Amino acid sequence: MNTPKVSIRALSKRFEGASVNALQQIDLDIAANEFVTFVGASGCGKSTLLRTIGGLETHSSGELLVDGRPVTGPDVDRAMVFQHYSLYPWMSVIENIRFCRQLAAHTRQRSSADVEAASGRADALLRLMGLEASAQAWPNQLSGGMQQRVAIARALMGRPGMLLMDEPFGALDAQTREVMHDLIRHVHRLEKATIVFVTHDVEEAIYLGGRVVLMAPRPGRIDTIYEVPFGDRRDQDLKHAPEFLRLKREILERIRETSGMKTDLEQLQRLSGLAESA
Ligand SMILES: Nc1ncnc2c1ncn2[C@@H]1O[C@H](COP(=O)(O)OP(=O)(O)OP(=O)(O)O)[C@@H](O)[C@H]1O
Ligand SMILES: [Mg+2]
Repeated sequence: MNTPKVSIRALSKRFEGASVNALQQIDLDIAANEFVTFVGASGCGKSTLLRTIGGLETHSSGELLVDGRPVTGPDVDRAMVFQHYSLYPWMSVIENIRFCRQLAAHTRQRSSADVEAASGRADALLRLMGLEASAQAWPNQLSGGMQQRVAIARALMGRPGMLLMDEPFGALDAQTREVMHDLIRHVHRLEKATIVFVTHDVEEAIYLGGRVVLMAPRPGRIDTIYEVPFGDRRDQDLKHAPEFLRLKREILERIRETSGMKTDLEQLQRLSGLAESA
């Protein structure tokens, strides 16, 4: 079997002073070029796991390998995209996209040919993302969807083997989000990157993922892994197909069951009972 892109064994993480593990005994392999999505109730450790894979967070025990090597910190091969597009407001769109690459060329004392090649890729990414007309614009002149496209282009600049995305479309409206879904699937096919994608939106998770990993909180753990049986058959109509809706309902129900919200509802009933008797 090929070495998995990511191999996680009995990985646990406890934040200092916390009473439960943010991550408990996580076991998971992610294959190269896989598109895997993560869902689960708030606080179940999705971001923590993603940040750990990204090297932004350390783990307390267990093993985390990327390309067969232990993760010791961030790496250009693992690019991250967050919900809030962290663009540099003082740079134009094209400068934002080129920036990291230019910095890398500069620090490695690379030749100007390197910088020129990077600039060709920046232009290609600009076209791929449909941003040609906005190359010279400032971030604050762009809509949220456009800013996120710049952030994705910037993440792709260094040809990362992995894209780690934490609710990247969470702040976008439904229409823009649909466009972004097809765009990111296109990028996945074209760039052959391994994509790990965290979302609150179960429909998004099924539509994009080859597998959907459902996590549960307190302690943060993997509850269920769903294989998504639609292969490359993904178009917007799929979202209304009975088998798609069935899987969506199953996952939503499981999130509800694992979220602890049931206990909260009981509390609420108790509260209103108290209010009535008062
Ligand atoms: N820097 C930190 N220090 C202490 N505890 C933290 C820290 N970051 C996260 N946690 C805790 O770890 C647990 C997992 O948090 P995490 O942010 O990974 O959850 P999540 O699944 O991404 O939630 P959400 O869906 O709300 O984004 C939570 O209990 C959270 O309070
Ligand atoms: Mg999170």
